[in-house]
Amino acid sequence: MEKRNLLIKDEPFIQHPFIVSLVLIVGFVVMDPFHLGPLGNHEFRPVKHDIAPYHQVMKNWPRDNLSRLGLYGKSEFKDQVYGPESLEFDNLGRGPYTGLADGRVVRWMGEELGWETFAVVTSNWTEKICLRGNDSTTAKQWKHEKTCGRPLGLRFDKESGDLYIADAYYGLLVVGPNGGLATPLATHVDGEPILFANDLDIHNNGSIFFTDTSKRYNRVAHFFILLEGEATGRLLRYDPPTKTTHVVLDGLAFPNGVQFSKDQSFLLYTETTNCRLRRLWIDGPRSGRVEDVADLPGFPDNVRMNEKGQFWVAIDCCRTPAQEVLSHNPWLRNIYFRLPVRMSLLARAMGMKMYTVISLLDDNGRILEVLEDREGDVMKLVSEVKEVNGKLWIGTVAHNHIATLPYP
Ligand SMILES: *[C@@H]1O[C@H](CO)[C@@H](O)[C@H](O)[C@H]1NC(C)=O
Ligand SMILES: *[C@@H]1O[C@H](CO)[C@@H](O)[C@H](O)[C@H]1NC(C)=O
Ligand SMILES: *[C@@H]1O[C@H](CO)[C@@H](O)[C@H](O)[C@H]1NC(C)=O
Ligand SMILES: *[C@@H]1O[C@H](CO)[C@@H](O)[C@H](O)[C@H]1NC(C)=O
Repeated sequence: MEKRNLLIKDEPFIQHPFIVSLVLIVGFVVMDPFHLGPLGNHEFRPVKHDIAPYHQVMKNWPRDNLSRLGLYGKSEFKDQVYGPESLEFDNLGRGPYTGLADGRVVRWMGEELGWETFAVVTSNWTEKICLRGNDSTTAKQWKHEKTCGRPLGLRFDKESGDLYIADAYYGLLVVGPNGGLATPLATHVDGEPILFANDLDIHNNGSIFFTDTSKRYNRVAHFFILLEGEATGRLLRYDPPTKTTHVVLDGLAFPNGVQFSKDQSFLLYTETTNCRLRRLWIDGPRSGRVEDVADLPGFPDNVRMNEKGQFWVAIDCCRTPAQEVLSHNPWLRNIYFRLPVRMSLLARAMGMKMYTVISLLDDNGRILEVLEDREGDVMKLVSEVKEVNGKLWIGTVAHNHIATLPYP
């Protein structure tokens, strides 16, 4: 009793050994003076973000307990394509065309000819610097990406046969039906460089709508966008007649895939950080308005429409309850991600075990199909699903192959 009184009265609170240790530990973690945490010396600025309640989303989301994508899917072109994100077919039905981690756009010319280089996005591209085979999807390519380019979104203009490319480093570009060196269309907006062009779609009037994922981070640093929850991404529009680029929407949290509806009355886009699919009305009385279409069980990438006007969404699943807590509490993220522990362990401690879910939605966000690959048998991480002539073509930035599945 006496001792306790003494302690409180005479010693400043801070001198209590337990408090001292705690302050030191928390201080050490927060300051991370030796850059031991996974963030290294990065200036980490987490913000609160807006994500639908975990339990509500998961409760209503149908599961594919048979894991049919894993069961019936087929892995193709192993070690022939490196990180093929977007898959596209030309007016003559040739393809797929796809953008690779080595900076090339390539196309499949059939068994005899195999894959051929179709286009590059910069005159800086050289075989010597850029061609790294299946190492292209590893950290070995990171310092070269900026030089070689990283084509992510691809779309053919059905009339002209021109291929439009959203490149993570070189912005929006176009290349003619015979390929070659692509021509830049939009590299800046409002005088600032476009840091991270990601996906695009083409309006019937020729304007190109495309996403710029962040004003602060490029593709190699995309993990920080997710961890911080920062929302500096934009939807942009390039108008060919005036050769000008305009900001359509600002303040988006990792805007990623874009897709017009069949009648082009609205444009769908995914926000990866907030695990949702939203739409911007383009036409009619609601023009200019944004609304939620679906809250998703994981992190969405591209969206692609099928012939029926329905939408395939590629999702890296799943969200976790811990992620929801962290997303609402930036201060907690500031401590958690500075723990001197590898990021993969921190992610596992949050219950993260990513696998592929692909889902078909109608234009009201109703779920028509859910296909999972729970064990990552054909694909652990997914970027795009394109339905063509009874087959799903599935692309991924993470692996060196394409997955296919007969559908329906
Ligand atoms: C899948 O499994 C979960 C739990 O194991 C169950 O609640 C759900 O009803 C199953 N779904 C289907 C479509 O069978
Ligand atoms: C080539 O790379 C340099 C340095 O990264 C860059 O400044 C320049 O714009 C690139 N050139 C072209 C034609 O893209
Ligand atoms: C990478 O590609 C080479 C052939 O180019 C192949 O021999 C090798 O097994 C591949 N490595 C991996 C890890 O798949
Ligand atoms: C095409 O339509 C969009 C959506 O209404 C509009 O924002 C854009 O300015 C139009 N582009 C041209 C070239 O008229």
